[in-house]
Amino acid sequence: RKDLLGIRDLSVNEIMTILQTAESMKGIVTGEATKLDVLKGKSAVTLFYENSTRTRMAFTMAGTYLGAHVADLGVASSSVQKGESLVDTGITLDSMGIDYMIMRHGMSGAAHLLAKNVKASVINAGDGANEHPTQALLDFYTIYEKKGGFKNLKVTIVGDIAHSRVARSNVFGLTQLGAQVTLAGPGTLTAKSMEKLGCTVVTDVKAAVKDADIVMALRIQLERQKGGLFPNLREYSQIYGLNKEIFEYAKPDALLMHPAPVNRGVELTPELMDSKVSVIDEQVTNGVAVRMAILALLQEGRENA
Ligand code: CP
Repeated sequence: RKDLLGIRDLSVNEIMTILQTAESMKGIVTGEATKLDVLKGKSAVTLFYENSTRTRMAFTMAGTYLGAHVADLGVASSSVQKGESLVDTGITLDSMGIDYMIMRHGMSGAAHLLAKNVKASVINAGDGANEHPTQALLDFYTIYEKKGGFKNLKVTIVGDIAHSRVARSNVFGLTQLGAQVTLAGPGTLTAKSMEKLGCTVVTDVKAAVKDADIVMALRIQLERQKGGLFPNLREYSQIYGLNKEIFEYAKPDALLMHPAPVNRGVELTPELMDSKVSVIDEQVTNGVAVRMAILALLQEGRENA
């Protein structure tokens, strides 16, 4: 395939190939293996219309570790600010011979629009509330690494489900991989309609966490709350904020995940976030390995096309 636009498009085989390739490359991120040159002579550009620390830097490091030249467009100081359209920006970058465009945009479907209009491979680094496929793939890799597989695992995702591209991508993939996914949050931040994707949606956080193998907290996305947040942050953290007491309802070997950045003290208490059950920092390391795997596999596809 030319692009990676969403988990919805990937088969179980494709997901597992990405996870196994990431596993073979993780040593490069941890300094235990030698860097590769499978992208030597190739160029990648990051175009982030929304803020990012992890995703943008992970792609920059992943491309660099594979030998590519990686540049950042710097949307805030680019001609996007003069009104240049997304498609015209893409065509301009295409004309410079760029091989990979890694884009985050506030509009659902933006990555698909770009991919249709450029020769470069497009990787969706988050499009509105639609999908964040590379985040989900690093989540899958972390679960696969820690639990050895997905079949019958109870994965509970707690938080601002309604605005979450991370939740959607995770649901698309985890249900295909055989996990049982439960989504939990207040009625204003959950969507019962997501049950048609094969998961369960509840408002009782203790019931959701009970016997979970994985508990994934999500950030409250204040930037996407049009009419203000209900319940407010204090009420939210009192009822839905995860702490050690609620985590006790999960299985004894349960793991805590979060895509980050975390609103400390809102969706997670600092005590729980910094405890041994948390794999949040390892998710970041795995994020570089997964993005290396994605770039290397897309490159293989381009060479065999
Ligand atoms: N998880 C995630 O996408 O983080 P950033 O917004 O920092 O990229």
